[in-house]
Amino acid sequence: MKAGVIQFAPEFGDVTGNMDRILALLALKDADLFVLPELALSGYLFESREEALGLAQRADGQEFDELAQLAREKDATIVVGFAERAGEELYNSSVMLTPDGRREIYRKIQLFYREREIFLPGNMPPTVHDVAGVRLGMMICFDWIYPEVARSLALAGADILCHGSNLVLPYCPDAMVTRSIENRVFSMTANRIGSEKRAGEDLTFIGMSEIVSPKGEILSRAGTGTEEVVVVDINPAAARDKAVTPYNDILNDRRPDMYRLS
Ligand code: ACM
Repeated sequence: MKAGVIQFAPEFGDVTGNMDRILALLALKDADLFVLPELALSGYLFESREEALGLAQRADGQEFDELAQLAREKDATIVVGFAERAGEELYNSSVMLTPDGRREIYRKIQLFYREREIFLPGNMPPTVHDVAGVRLGMMICFDWIYPEVARSLALAGADILCHGSNLVLPYCPDAMVTRSIENRVFSMTANRIGSEKRAGEDLTFIGMSEIVSPKGEILSRAGTGTEEVVVVDINPAAARDKAVTPYNDILNDRRPDMYRLS
C-alpha cells in the first residue's frame, strides 16, 4: 500500500482556508492512507477555551463532508487533527475518514503544556480500526512520550500508528523510531511547520514528518521547514511479524508479572 504524510503550516483561526489547503495538498499525490497534523484546521495556540470552542468542529460536522467525499473518490483513508466540540466539551482529536464512509475518532490522552487549560484529556482507550484488512491506530503528538499509548495500540493489533503532531520539542522523530522497533509497527508522524506567536507564547514547530518501518528504518523524513507530501510504499503485513529472533516475540514475551507499573 501507499502511505502518505502531509506536512504544512496551518494558519491560526482560518478553518476554511486550512481545509482548502488540505484539499489542495491531497490532490497532489495518490495514496491509500494519508496522515495530517494535529489541530490542522484551527492552528495551535489558543488564547482561551472559548476561542478554541469557536474554532472547533463536531466529528459529524459538515466541515468534514468534502474531505469524506474525497476519501471515497480517492479510495483513501484520511486522518486529520482538529479541535473537537462534543456537546460543551472540547477535545484535541483526530478523525479517520475511511473510503467506506466511517468517521472514527481518537481523543488525545496525554495533553501537552497549556493544552491542559483548553482541552479535556481523551476519555476513550486507543482503538484499532480495520480498513480493508489493514489495522490502523491513532495517537496524537505528545502521546509519543508515554510508551503505553503506542503499546496499547500494538497490543490491540495495530499495523500502523497514525500520529498527527504539532511537535515543538526535538526528541520525537527519533523516539518514534523506538516506538516502531519496540512494537514492530509502522509509524507515520505528520508534523506541522511554521511558528505561532499568540497567547503570550512563541512556538516554532519542527517539521521532520516521517514514516518508520517495524524494524526502525526511517523510510522517509521531511525537512524542518518545507511543505511536503511524502508518499512511500509499505507492506503492512510486515508489522504482523513480531519475531525479533526465532526465540523472541516482542509482544508475547512480555512479562507483566515482573513489571511493577504502579
Ligand atoms: C504537542 O503535543 N503538541 C507537543
